[in-house]
Amino acid sequence: MSIDYNEKIPNNVDLAANKTLQRALEHWQPEFLNWWGDMGPEGFQQSLVYLRTAYSVDPRGWAKFDYVKMPDYRWGILLAPQEENRVIPFGEHYGEPAWQEVPGEHRAMLRRLIVIQGDTEPASVEQQRHLGKTAPSLYDLRNLFQVNVEEGRHLWAMVYLLQKYFGRDGREEADELLRRRSGDADSPRMLGAFNEATPDWLSFFMFTYFTDRDGKMQLHSLAQSGFDPLSRTCRFMLTEEAHHMFVGETGISRVVQRTCEAMRAAGIGDPTDIAKVRALGVIDLPTIQKKLNLHYSLSLDLFGSEVSTNAANAFNAGIKGRYHETQIKDDHRLESDTYPVLKLVDGKIKRVDEPALTALNMRLRDDYTQDCVKGLLRWNKIISTAGYDFKLALPNVAFHRAIGEFKDIHATPDGVLIDEATWNRRKHEWLPSTEDGDFIASLMTPVTSPGEFAPWISPPKVGIDNKPGDFEYVKIET
Ligand SMILES: [Fe+2]
Ligand SMILES: [Fe+2]
Repeated sequence: MSIDYNEKIPNNVDLAANKTLQRALEHWQPEFLNWWGDMGPEGFQQSLVYLRTAYSVDPRGWAKFDYVKMPDYRWGILLAPQEENRVIPFGEHYGEPAWQEVPGEHRAMLRRLIVIQGDTEPASVEQQRHLGKTAPSLYDLRNLFQVNVEEGRHLWAMVYLLQKYFGRDGREEADELLRRRSGDADSPRMLGAFNEATPDWLSFFMFTYFTDRDGKMQLHSLAQSGFDPLSRTCRFMLTEEAHHMFVGETGISRVVQRTCEAMRAAGIGDPTDIAKVRALGVIDLPTIQKKLNLHYSLSLDLFGSEVSTNAANAFNAGIKGRYHETQIKDDHRLESDTYPVLKLVDGKIKRVDEPALTALNMRLRDDYTQDCVKGLLRWNKIISTAGYDFKLALPNVAFHRAIGEFKDIHATPDGVLIDEATWNRRKHEWLPSTEDGDFIASLMTPVTSPGEFAPWISPPKVGIDNKPGDFEYVKIET
């Protein structure tokens, strides 16, 4: 399981033993580096960044920290250890040995799922490429770049599967992954949320909290896959992914913390007095709620339609399971089970029992929502501890949706259905307006002295790798 870092492409899959594959990946590598140069972080490419690099897949100790220039980062191919005698944990092949090769009859479906997952990884790097210029501290700048290089590695993870198991069309898909561009009119990324802008650091924290968490749920489902190489790849990606959501959760915590401190210091009693709060140079809580509404609703769309035969087929085939599949106590085939799905019935939002197999997207989305709630509890604790009567909340699932049951209607964050005219008149009560965006943008001035933070965000409680508060996480070279 050791990783050979003397190889051009670090790996623990014995790449040297498969010359054809090695050559194909070594051919793709410079294309990847070109993409990184064009679409990766803007600037800072010659700066030394205190980054972690995976050196092992042992969960007890898998990364080491060091100063690295981003283009020199060792993007590698790392699979979690093979579980002996692993069986397919769900679907019509339940209990059969996991596949080490692609099952012919499910080849197209598998490839499509790998490509969709793969497409999100470079997309988020593209979305975040301008943020370095306005980082609120070297600590945050470093975290941004850590997320970026690891999303780059996740792209490698999916490209390895495509090139190793899908022959020529796999290689073509690998090239396409470097060709599409987030937000591009002609050649956009595959999923909506990955074509949205990430204009400021509050968006970045919301993205890493809500959208990376969709990634977590998808990776968990794919980690259950009967196709063992996919399962092993996703298991190791999840190890890295945890830090991305940590960046989001603590980032929002620190913004909320700073706002509450500033309001208290100024004697402001009403947190919804936006003008007064903004005059302090911090982001008011109602605007934070609007950003949350936006990113949560965009992320819900990533789960696809609530009722989906594709999801049922992927489950039946043993390709994509449920969150924590092996811990669920049922028959793992779901042939006669039902699951409650929120639907629009006679103009009302109602729960309707659907066959559990076709409701798998809804189930995963419910698991996601539950997972999201944890952060809200922490953020609301900060607000209530500061003595304010204000609660951040997740908007109703019918709010601001572009996919699924509620895509053709309008609803308030409380789930009250409204007509189009009302929506157009009131939407900026719930979603960031241009003025909100301009205000946040006005706060985004870079802070680059070690140990200093922009006035709209609190310092973190602990440093990365237990470094002290004034640690120079990025040695800026222009
Ligand atoms: Fe990722
Ligand atoms: Fe991520």
